Amino acid sequence: MTGRKLAGFTIGLLGTLILVGCSGTSSILFPASPNARATAQLFNFVSIIEAIVFVIVETALVYAVVHFSRKQSSGLPKQIEGNLTLEIVWTVIPSIILALIFFVSLGTLRFVTSAPPQSFLTNAPIHVRVIGHQWFFEFDYPDLNIVTANQLVVPINTLVNVDVQSVDVIHSYWVPELGGKIDAIPGITNQLHFQAEKLGVFAGQCAEFCGADHAQMRLTVVVKTPEEYAAWVKGQQAPIPLLSGDASLGEQVFMGGACLGCHTIDNTKAQGKVGPNLTHFASRDLFAGSILANTTDNVSQWLVDPQAIKMGNLMPNLHLPNNNIKLLVSFLESLK
Ligand code: CUA
Repeated sequence: MTGRKLAGFTIGLLGTLILVGCSGTSSILFPASPNARATAQLFNFVSIIEAIVFVIVETALVYAVVHFSRKQSSGLPKQIEGNLTLEIVWTVIPSIILALIFFVSLGTLRFVTSAPPQSFLTNAPIHVRVIGHQWFFEFDYPDLNIVTANQLVVPINTLVNVDVQSVDVIHSYWVPELGGKIDAIPGITNQLHFQAEKLGVFAGQCAEFCGADHAQMRLTVVVKTPEEYAAWVKGQQAPIPLLSGDASLGEQVFMGGACLGCHTIDNTKAQGKVGPNLTHFASRDLFAGSILANTTDNVSQWLVDPQAIKMGNLMPNLHLPNNNIKLLVSFLESLK
């Protein structure tokens, strides 16, 4: 790579990183939870030290190259062997810097992993189990009898205690703006917590390679006001509505076909545990590992051939007749 190409590449890369950082997508640099902020502060602290060390070292290097380079006419430059004072200085200073980073990191680690004491909290904490599946995240609110998928809904300024588990392989739960990353390991429960301080939608991603569709295993955290959250909980706890027309016919297709073997719809005979719980499917903005918007077209496409959209996922192509797809979409869209 020539110097000019290298410079162009570097500028392009930096530009991309800056754009990615500012576009509102998930980034640890825009924290929205106390523990995420602690991580970002540690990152900034280490970056500043690195920048200072970089400037000092590069300045010394350039100075040495220019000032001590061999001039055409002169013979060998002055030969210098060893300088005890200098060697002590350049051993002690980096040791101090590394010790500083070590202890600041330990403090941050402690802060990030220990939940704030009850006395600091204004709202009662909530408890969620996050369960990794190939390839979607399931969210179980054991105290509320709610099971949902792809979108984790939480109230603002509330401690969320998260138990992270997996039913198959190792996944990793990570929502960069809302605190740390933690592995979802079969047979083990890992824990983390966060308190969202901003309303809105925060993107997350499975952060451990877990098979063919690892990149398609995303999630969002939707942060609501306490009133919106209470309304959401009420909606999720409500039984599915009485259906008529196409939706009712779609329900018959669902309950009479293969669907119920893999999916649960609360208070019906559909109690499958392989795929996402679909009880209030229509209340979610995204589906299929949070890669598709929950629209009529996308749900139809998915039912036509899930493998064409997410190759290797556990839902086979059921070769459903077009009319059944239409009825099923109508049913799913009525599950508000
Ligand atoms: Cu699940 Cu990567």
